[in-house]
Amino acid sequence: MAAFEERDGPLFFGRDREARVVLDHVYASRLTVLSGPSGVGKTSLLEAGVAYRVHQTPGRTAVVFRDWQGDVVGNLKRAIGAEVARVAGVPTADPDDSALATYASRFAPVLDVPLVLLLDQFEEYFVFHPATQRVDLLTMDSRTFPVALMHLLAQPECPIHVLIAIREDALAMLQRLAGSMAAVLRSYIQLQHLKPAAAIDAVEGPLEAFNRSRPGDEPIRLEPGLAEDVVKRLQSESIDADLAVPEATSQAVGGVDDIQVDVSVQAPYLQLVMQRLWAEEVGRGSNTLRRASLRRMGSVPQIVGDHIDRSLARLNRSDREIAARIFQYLVTPDGSMQALGVGTLAFYTELPDDRIASVVERLCRSDMRVLRPLAASGIDGGERDARYEVFYRALVPGILDWRWRHVGEQQLTRGRWMVVGVALLAMVASELTPGFPGALLTLARSTGLLLVHAVLLQQVYAWFYRFVVALPGGHTLSAHRISFVGGVLGAVLGLLWLSVTQWPAGCRSIGDLTSAGYAWNYLMLMPTMLVGSVAFLAMRAAGRFALRVAHVRFSTGFLTAYIAIVGASAALTAYALLGRWPANANIEILQPSVISDCAELAVPE
Ligand SMILES: Nc1ncnc2c1ncn2[C@@H]1O[C@H](COP(=O)(O)OP(=O)(O)OP(=O)(O)O)[C@@H](O)[C@H]1O
Ligand SMILES: [Mg+2]
Repeated sequence: MAAFEERDGPLFFGRDREARVVLDHVYASRLTVLSGPSGVGKTSLLEAGVAYRVHQTPGRTAVVFRDWQGDVVGNLKRAIGAEVARVAGVPTADPDDSALATYASRFAPVLDVPLVLLLDQFEEYFVFHPATQRVDLLTMDSRTFPVALMHLLAQPECPIHVLIAIREDALAMLQRLAGSMAAVLRSYIQLQHLKPAAAIDAVEGPLEAFNRSRPGDEPIRLEPGLAEDVVKRLQSESIDADLAVPEATSQAVGGVDDIQVDVSVQAPYLQLVMQRLWAEEVGRGSNTLRRASLRRMGSVPQIVGDHIDRSLARLNRSDREIAARIFQYLVTPDGSMQALGVGTLAFYTELPDDRIASVVERLCRSDMRVLRPLAASGIDGGERDARYEVFYRALVPGILDWRWRHVGEQQLTRGRWMVVGVALLAMVASELTPGFPGALLTLARSTGLLLVHAVLLQQVYAWFYRFVVALPGGHTLSAHRISFVGGVLGAVLGLLWLSVTQWPAGCRSIGDLTSAGYAWNYLMLMPTMLVGSVAFLAMRAAGRFALRVAHVRFSTGFLTAYIAIVGASAALTAYALLGRWPANANIEILQPSVISDCAELAVPE
């Protein structure tokens, strides 16, 4: 989900026209503003489109700058000095105490063409410097960044042209610097989401470039029509209200089966779908990305959901709980995002500030990119702490869905333990009650064992999932595959556990069991416990189905208990069916009396 970097230039497609437009503007005017919604591709365009192109021409200079913390002017001087030194072959000038404009004008003699200064994530400047006031060139300290920038732009022979890239929701903040939007918007570019033709280019182009970069190796191919399928799918399953297709338009161009020329595609979704397809195919050793695999991958919302699941699975249990609590406020149920500070989140959730801060910080890191800091806005010009919001709007549906399931699964887990407790109590009660009917006793014992087995499986599965996702590259594995392997592993461990705990006291080897005539009975534990595993998987699937598809709300443990009991009954039915084994086998293998019989019979001292 990361933005493209300059070194990814050869793999960056779909933004040719935009890169040219930006370059034309930047060379023609001292200040250009580029804005667009979250995740539209501003950073990628500046890095892999604009800076990459500038550096293709010898002697041209460009700096992408986004180091907004601390001494911004000092950071800027260092970045500019290093770039000029690298390209023009002059020694790096020391970033002394001089004003930015004075420092930069030194380079006029060595720069034939102006240096392109691309100020990316400009909204973050306001996060780290929340007290920024409207610039007053006469009274403000000329070492502060806003004043230094204004001086730089005002100096006639300064060889630097500036582009400010800013998220459109923070655009109004620029007013604080310029005093009037008209001043900054004289050269203004609004970046739009990818048009369908550009999106197809963004799917096909990188692969061709990748294949060209490794001539000796077998090329990775796209099945014909795959790129179109991806685009159609992103158009028809677009989750963002901004891009929703008006019904009349979709019918006019032939419904969702055709590519709709006027419906754009969001780059983050495109990345997620292609990344997933690549992991499914190339990860499996195939060299063709196929349409059938795309169809099997599920809907776009599911793919987004998997991505969120895997990112959040890397948090520990208590941090996940905090994440679920803060998402409740960062994303509203109708899907709009709210930007909130740590203090506000702590107030709402009644959790300590430092716990919230550490989880928020983790969710902002580059291996997650679930949240990001946003410009702080001071009410009445007062300072407030930095606010955080969801990284790309495209992730909102996945986060809502994750939170929904997280809460439901917490309840399911509580419910499962409750059912196990009841089953164990029933077991003990039936053991202690004289004259309790034999068949019911067996039922109570078997149910108890199966449920304990099921809960253990669930725990093993959860550990396994977290372990795999935390491995390097683990988060790119398919969730279905991890689930399957986790389920099998849990089943095997469960079987081992039962084999050991049910081993008849006194029997020392399989030979002892065989000579006592109980080997067959003992072996029957295996299918019985497999049935237990299947019952567990069925319970889990039923719970997930209820949460994901039917959107059932678990306000009480009722449904949980229901699912558990249905699962256990299904298992017992299968157990009874499997009970058609040879007449000499004893169905009451799980009863301690049988086991002690075995011990008496089998152990010749
Ligand atoms: N031309 C493209 N082709 C394929 N993927 C793209 C393209 N442009 C952007 N992306 C992907 O879209 C996502 C968002 O891109 P990027 O970070 O550049 O957006 P942004 O506008 O800078 O977002 P923000 O407002 O959060 O800073 C990234 O995953 C990036 O890889
Ligand atoms: Mg960006």
